[in-house]
Amino acid sequence: MTETLGFCEETRPEGCGFVLFGATGDLAGRKILPALFGLCEKRLAPKNFYLVLAARTPMDRNALESRLWNIVMRTSPSTAPEVFSAFLARIEYVQADYGDPAFFKKLAARLTELDAKFNVKRKHLFYLATPPAAFEGLAGSLRDSGLLLDPKDCTCWSRVVIEKPYGSSLENAAAIDAGIKRAAHESQVYRIDHFTGKETVQNVLALRSANAVFDGTWNGRFVDHVRITALEELGLEGRAGFFEGMGLARDMMSHLLQLAAITAMDLPSSFRDTDFKAEKKKFFESLRIFSPEEAGSCVVRGQYAGYAAEPGVAGGSATETFLALKLAVDNDRWRGVPFYVRAGKKTGAKRTCIEIVYKKPDHGIFRDIDIGYPNVFSFSIQPEEKVDFSLISKHPGPKLCFTRRSMGLDYRLDEHDKAPYPTDYERLLIEAMAGDQTLFLSDAEMRGMWNFLSPILGTWQRRPQACPLHIYQDGTPGPAAAQELIKKDKRAWE
Ligand SMILES: NC(=O)c1ccc[n+]([C@@H]2O[C@H](COP(=O)([O-])OP(=O)(O)OC[C@H]3O[C@@H](n4cnc5c(N)ncnc54)[C@H](OP(=O)(O)O)[C@@H]3O)[C@@H](O)[C@H]2O)c1
Repeated sequence: MTETLGFCEETRPEGCGFVLFGATGDLAGRKILPALFGLCEKRLAPKNFYLVLAARTPMDRNALESRLWNIVMRTSPSTAPEVFSAFLARIEYVQADYGDPAFFKKLAARLTELDAKFNVKRKHLFYLATPPAAFEGLAGSLRDSGLLLDPKDCTCWSRVVIEKPYGSSLENAAAIDAGIKRAAHESQVYRIDHFTGKETVQNVLALRSANAVFDGTWNGRFVDHVRITALEELGLEGRAGFFEGMGLARDMMSHLLQLAAITAMDLPSSFRDTDFKAEKKKFFESLRIFSPEEAGSCVVRGQYAGYAAEPGVAGGSATETFLALKLAVDNDRWRGVPFYVRAGKKTGAKRTCIEIVYKKPDHGIFRDIDIGYPNVFSFSIQPEEKVDFSLISKHPGPKLCFTRRSMGLDYRLDEHDKAPYPTDYERLLIEAMAGDQTLFLSDAEMRGMWNFLSPILGTWQRRPQACPLHIYQDGTPGPAAAQELIKKDKRAWE
């Protein structure tokens, strides 16, 4: 049994009603409903808990149950019928008419009845799994109908959860945010980026803060460069309608910068969400914004060769499916340490990781000899979750020669530890129900992301010749220009 020592804090979700708008959608079916079921199945959901699924599409009880069964069978095929029945007993579907104030009045009345039935004390989480264009109207209607409470008012609460990419441009994101803020206070807004819910990502800070040996070397004196990779094996998977207008940069930038922020930020003085967010905000303030020239020299964009033939893709589409960047973090800890970041579709393998690449010793007998450097501290996030540190050690035997070895932490595979781990989405839903914003993005981070991305998008639009679209073969790790971006600094992706 894995022993937990001394410090063990558990986030406990509070009993609440969970209202999912856009419940007929892709995100709801692939991520949120499986996570809600997972929480109930693993007994991680609060005892007093109910779900209202809302969308405009009419759906009777039979259709609802059969949709939920299909979703559950896809993600948890060995589910026992009684576990599924217990889940169903907490759920009801309401057909929404978002343009009609009477719908929200009726919803408020129904939530009051469900609160009484499930012993919930006016605590409601509203998950807006709809297109972002609907956020402002929905939040406003929730406020007007008395469902979004003033956070100072009482011991009850109401919170709104939204998903990245938080708009399509700096201006559009600011307008969406302003719209939500007219209805809800920042302390009620939970912006999800599910990468922050992943175990290995949380372990970056946990290992640093708990082991002085790591944080002591977490800076430009010891670290040569940092690599962040988020490659996918899959291509569009029939989602041209969503992706064509979005592109990889808008779709992935929040994930990539969250990984960079969690790697680069200073350690917070406590694990409280306010301290954590204050340090993360400083990362976004230190991130160098590219000039138009840098957007040409430090960014590579690509498109896989088969993209143009994907159903729904317009002929001559310039939508990027690959991105590589060299980030600079202008603070004392990281000045001069490049962060190489890449993400892409149809790259031959699914792989998401953060790698801290150490300098070789600049003194002593190994200074001019290559014995297998560099040391790499690697956090694998997908497909497997594990942490490795590559060391140079003596090769066993009578001679003095050296071998590269890996010191690994495969905590997910601890056979004796049977505690049910929440998945990333499950973990984030627990946190939102507990009122802890640590793993959610603040408005400042969202703005920081757009401040960084906007000049790049602007350069692509206004000066496309400065950053041409490189075509790469399907199943390869991006265009040659992405290799060149790191190779010209005498480094490599791996
Ligand atoms: N899908 C993903 O993997 C993914 C990943 C990251 C982020 N997101 C974000 O998560 C949210 C939901 O994504 P999604 O892919 O599930 O979206 P979606 O399938 O396009 O829409 C979700 C649901 O919203 C409802 N809807 C559509 N237009 C609406 C409107 N104008 N007003 C109110 N409701 C409307 C539809 O249900 P009814 O017509 O039945 O009401 C639809 O089933 C979006 O904000 C998206 O940017 C999605």
